[in-house]
Amino acid sequence: MGKLTVSEELFNRAQKVIPGGVNSPVRAFAAVGGSPPFIERGEGAELIDCDGNRYIDFCCSWGPLIMGHADSDVTAEINRVASKGCSFGATTPLEVELAERVVSKVGPLEMVRFVSSGTEAVMSAIRLARGFTGRDKIIKFDGCYHGHSDYLLVKAGSGLVTLGEPSSGGVPADFAAHTLIADLDDEQSVTDYFEKFGNEIACIVIEPIPANNGLLLQRPEFLKFLREISQKHGALLIFDEVISGFRVGWGGAAEMYHITPDLMTFGKVIGGGMPVGAFGGRADIMKKLAPLGSVYQAGTLSGNPVAMAAGLKTLDLLEQKDGFVKLNQLGQYFEKRLLENIKDKDCCIMRFGSIIWLLFQKDQPRRADKIDSTAIDFYNKIHRSILDDGVYLPPSGYEVMFVSLAHTNDLLDRAAQAIGKAVSTG
Ligand SMILES: Cc1ncc(COP(=O)(O)O)c(C=O)c1O
Repeated sequence: MGKLTVSEELFNRAQKVIPGGVNSPVRAFAAVGGSPPFIERGEGAELIDCDGNRYIDFCCSWGPLIMGHADSDVTAEINRVASKGCSFGATTPLEVELAERVVSKVGPLEMVRFVSSGTEAVMSAIRLARGFTGRDKIIKFDGCYHGHSDYLLVKAGSGLVTLGEPSSGGVPADFAAHTLIADLDDEQSVTDYFEKFGNEIACIVIEPIPANNGLLLQRPEFLKFLREISQKHGALLIFDEVISGFRVGWGGAAEMYHITPDLMTFGKVIGGGMPVGAFGGRADIMKKLAPLGSVYQAGTLSGNPVAMAAGLKTLDLLEQKDGFVKLNQLGQYFEKRLLENIKDKDCCIMRFGSIIWLLFQKDQPRRADKIDSTAIDFYNKIHRSILDDGVYLPPSGYEVMFVSLAHTNDLLDRAAQAIGKAVSTG
């Protein structure tokens, strides 16, 4: 790979006016070291940085770009809609269309509301769960990330793990006092909370496919248990599908595991690369939201027409191209090629469709505390040489990779070879 002269200059300038030079911490490459490439443009499965270096991209904007970068149909639709006005602060037909589409595709959704980020989606869903049940406590899991709302920044996955902080500064202990942290893959840790706090628990919130502290695939029985125990105690079950929604299949993890949560949250893919989040679920719960009910929630740019259009076009394309079948095939192919190329090093590859996590240890972990930190150190150590070989992996060993419909077998071969080479020399 060529030099990063322009990127380094930009990083220096950025650090003077933006804390750490970035607008989201993991982008600073702190875990893997070195300057981050500054991106000039994307083309299909590739990123091109400001020095003209090209990379096969497995970050895909952290999941949203399921069609790849600058897909011509999505871009044309964004331009078409933006030319009529970017925001009106009034309802548009596109919101109705995307809401109808999402509700028709996801079984447990009877109603949905759009917001501008995944953070807002989960924060609003939890407020709604509290308002609906009249209870304050929530159960979340060690290693699951649900955005950066104060009371959810407890044991919350890669960004915080990468910074070596168990939690965030600036969060009053009182704010987190109602957040009960349970362990993934551990029924007893959840049962204990219900025995102790029974009718004070408003909801359990979980990423059903936890993908923010590596990919910690859960036993289906564990997720079914969460459905049963929450129902038994009158608490709601919230599936945070900000990553898995419209990434693993039309109905997300809920459909794959045959579980009906009360509420679900979305983001990423349904915005086609534009800022979007959504939360939805049972109509009787959703009708508690203002203006119908007493739970307040609002947003200046919520349901933004350009974002709705990008999401709708992305879903159209996924349907036309039989997207989820192809994504699964691409994911399977990449997994196979990685296994063939990585030699003489303990390695397990966790995969759910097109979400892939590469971990340099022998055993597959199902919970955060089963990840060996030396496995993460090894990933972080070889990251730069893989980047130098033209492959852009997420800049932390705790982050997962995403494959898009723009990735080809040829690109996946090249990437697997570059990773294999770095592993054997690392
Ligand atoms: C499962 C999950 N929930 C919520 C969020 C927060 O979404 P956003 O970054 O759009 O605020 C994320 C972000 O990665 C996520 O992965």
